[in-house]
Amino acid sequence: MSKNKVITIERHIIEGERAHPGASGHFSGLLRDLTLAFKMIWREVSKAGLVNILGTLGRENIHGDDLKKLDLFADETIYRAMDHGGHLCVMASEENEDVLHIPENYPTGKYVLIYDPLDGSSNIDANITIGTIFSIYGRVTRSGQGTMVDCLQPGYKQVAAGYVVYGSSTMLVYTTGDGVHGFTLDPAIGEFLLSHENIRIPRRGSIYSVNEGNYHRWSDNLKKYISYLQEEDKTTGRPYSSRYIGALVGDVHRTLLYGGIFMYPADSKRPHGKLRLMYEGNPMAFLLEQAGGRATNGCERILDIQPRQLHQRVPLFLGSEEDVVIAEEFLQGKRT
Ligand code: AHG
Ligand code: MN
Ligand code: MN
Repeated sequence: MSKNKVITIERHIIEGERAHPGASGHFSGLLRDLTLAFKMIWREVSKAGLVNILGTLGRENIHGDDLKKLDLFADETIYRAMDHGGHLCVMASEENEDVLHIPENYPTGKYVLIYDPLDGSSNIDANITIGTIFSIYGRVTRSGQGTMVDCLQPGYKQVAAGYVVYGSSTMLVYTTGDGVHGFTLDPAIGEFLLSHENIRIPRRGSIYSVNEGNYHRWSDNLKKYISYLQEEDKTTGRPYSSRYIGALVGDVHRTLLYGGIFMYPADSKRPHGKLRLMYEGNPMAFLLEQAGGRATNGCERILDIQPRQLHQRVPLFLGSEEDVVIAEEFLQGKRT
C-alpha cells in the first residue's frame, strides 16, 4: 500500500475510539450517520443551480430570515439521518423553535445533537461558500426522551463539534477534544479523506473579518480596535487585510487555516450580536480552542457561558490567541 495511508473519517473515528478505552462505539456510529447526511446535502448543494432547490420558500424561519429551500432540505436531511440510529436522545436545530424529539418507534441514546443545517444561507443563490455546523453533548437526563435540559449545556461540555464547508472542495473539520482534523470529500468515491491532520491556528495573523457595514452601530472601543488593525504595522509595514464572506463557516475556516480574527460584535441594534450560541458560537469556539486559538464574547470565554435559551445570540470574537487578546483589551477599554 502507498506510504500515504488513506484515512477515511470512519477509520479516524474508530482509531480515535480505540485510543479511549471504554468508548462505547456509539460515537463512531453517530458520526458515521452524520457524514452520510453531509454527503446528501453536498449532493444537492453541488447541483443546486441545476435543480429546483435554489431560492426561498416565500416564508420566514423562526428568526425572521428568509427560509431557503436548501435550509429546509438540509434540516430535514440531518434529522432523518439521525433519528433512528439509537445514538441520540434529542436534537435541536436553528430551524426549529423547540427541541426535536426522537420518534417513539426508535430507541434513544446517550448523545445530544445541536446543529445549524445550512449556514450562510444568503450566499446560496450566488454560489458562494456555505456550510453546516454541528455540536454534540452527552445527555444529562437519565433515560428516555431527552429534553431542553439536555440541550442547554455550556460549551465546555461538548464531546464533539465540527462543520462542513461546501466550497471549491467540500471539507469536514471536527474535533472530539483531541485536536482538530480536516477531511476532504473525494467525490469519485464519496468518502471524506484525512487531508489536514491536527490543524493549528497561527498565534497571530494578519487578516480581520467583520461586516463593516455595521460600523456606525459599533461601540467607540470597537471602532478604536478596527482603526488599530488598519494602521501601518511597525514590524510588518502593512495593515491587516480585511476578508468577509458572510458565511460563518467560510470565515472561520479561513481564520483557522490562516490566522487572524473573526468578529460578529454586539451593536446598537443587536445588543447580543447576531450569531447563536448553541449552534454557531459554541461549536466554533470548541474548534478554535482545540486548534490553539481563543474565542470570547469580548470579555468572557464562549465555552463558559451558561445558556438560558436555545436560540440565544452571543457576540463572537474568535481566532489567533494574540489577536483575540488584543481585541479584548480594546473592547474592555484597557488599550486605546
Ligand atoms: P445562517 O445562514 O445559518 O442564518 O447564518 C448566517 C450568519 C453567519 O453565517 C454569518 O457569519 C452571518 O450570518 C453574516 O451576517 P451578516 O450578513 O449580517 O454579515
Ligand atoms: Mn443556518
Ligand atoms: Mn448560521
